[in-house]
Amino acid sequence: TSILVLNGPNLNLLGMRQPEIYGHTTLADIEAMCLAHAETHGLALAFEQSNHEGALIDAIHAARGTHDGIILNAGAYTHSSIALMDALASVQIPAIELHLSNVHAREDYRHVSYIARVAVGVICGFGAPGYILALDAMRGHLERGG
Ligand code: DQA
Repeated sequence: TSILVLNGPNLNLLGMRQPEIYGHTTLADIEAMCLAHAETHGLALAFEQSNHEGALIDAIHAARGTHDGIILNAGAYTHSSIALMDALASVQIPAIELHLSNVHAREDYRHVSYIARVAVGVICGFGAPGYILALDAMRGHLERGG
């Protein structure tokens, strides 16, 4: 079983970016946590980040035949990108939408998600450990037959 953890715009700045909202954990820390967790469970894991919508779409396309599930923190593209939604719908790979912050407790424009329409489920508000929750959720989903 192989899972792609895909991170969108501004998440490369985690740790220094609005730490009161997103915490002090860096994306490299999260990657290390995810890799350790994946290893414990015998999962293969790829970890990618891009600030570019098209590059995220390319990564989703490239997951075909390579990964069994996608965990996507699309950052602000969550709330705007029909193209990312279409990409996920096109590849037929189960996806979980993830956010560090509880987007529903924040500005109205963060309450809308195009990704959620094509996701198996959504995890938000648990900070960096949310990535581990998402890995476990995807593992369970795939074990039950995807
Ligand atoms: C985010 C929430 C988004 O609304 C925001 O644009 C981000 C990060 C999160 O992980 O909490 O960039 O996806």
